[in-house]
Amino acid sequence: MLPLEQLFAQQAQVASIRPIVLMYQAESQQKELLHALFASKAPRSYVRQILRVLLTAIESADIADPVEELITTYAGLMVPSDSEGEKTSIRSDESTPVYYRFGQHLLTVNENRHTLVQFGGTGYRTWEAALALGDYFISTTAVDLKNQRVLELGAGTGFAGMVTASLGSHTVLTDGDPAVVERLNKTISFNNLTADVQELYWGPDAAVDHFANSLVIAADVLYDVDIFPAFICILRRLLSVNCEAIIATTVRNEDTFGEFLAQAAAQEIVVQPLATYDPSDEPSEFFWFAPGPRIEILRLGL
Ligand SMILES: C[S@@+](CC[C@H](N)C(=O)[O-])C[C@H]1O[C@@H](n2cnc3c(N)ncnc32)[C@H](O)[C@@H]1O
Repeated sequence: MLPLEQLFAQQAQVASIRPIVLMYQAESQQKELLHALFASKAPRSYVRQILRVLLTAIESADIADPVEELITTYAGLMVPSDSEGEKTSIRSDESTPVYYRFGQHLLTVNENRHTLVQFGGTGYRTWEAALALGDYFISTTAVDLKNQRVLELGAGTGFAGMVTASLGSHTVLTDGDPAVVERLNKTISFNNLTADVQELYWGPDAAVDHFANSLVIAADVLYDVDIFPAFICILRRLLSVNCEAIIATTVRNEDTFGEFLAQAAAQEIVVQPLATYDPSDEPSEFFWFAPGPRIEILRLGL
């Protein structure tokens, strides 16, 4: 099991980690949970939800009493902070910093972990496929990223590209949504990473030759059959300038996945499975995965 602090730092879905929180009802364990919450730097709203789960369970089970520190912390969180007050009146952006730690590296990404679509786009939260791709690069010995040129397509929050940059590659993170690109720039500089950010919309006119000899990476970009032709088009052009690709895709629908494989094969793209992540099976020693369908890591080449 991932350390509590890491679950909270990543703002793991409260409903999914409820059984874990309920293991901390004894008085000494309540303090342990509180300290993990403080150390995680999770936002107030998240801390409040976790404490509510614990307090409700303690009160109904009658096994232990809530310790003073738990009660005072929870009571303090019932008073909205200045910034929460502002948010309820503006309500534009519910992003909070989410922390991802692996080895000596800490990545901070401002996102709303539980929003699927924000401002009309899908690039404002880190998807499980990006976590899987990041985990794959951290764990595998089959890919040496040191000094490797990496191009990320559809980067969104940039998680996968930030992992490759942290592991020593020269990474260019790209996305077709200008607002996502603006955020990516901020995230990269906040994390003090050496990486480039560019707007790159897939299609026949996208300039790609300067990305020759790169490892192309992409996470969760195969969710809609309508975007397959554009993605396969840019991918085919990159593969023909001596790139190879490693992508992660969440298999939400077998037919959609099958359609991608068929369209890739029609363009003579060879697809090789590298790994499968099953979120219900503690798939990573570094990151928490929300429950959901399996994720395939694929190598794509000519
Ligand atoms: C589901 S999000 C995945 C984001 C990120 N890779 C992750 O897994 O967390 C898909 C991303 O692809 C980008 N995208 C979709 N269509 C695109 C296109 N035609 N050209 C460039 N980027 C595109 C979106 O802006 C979005 O950031």
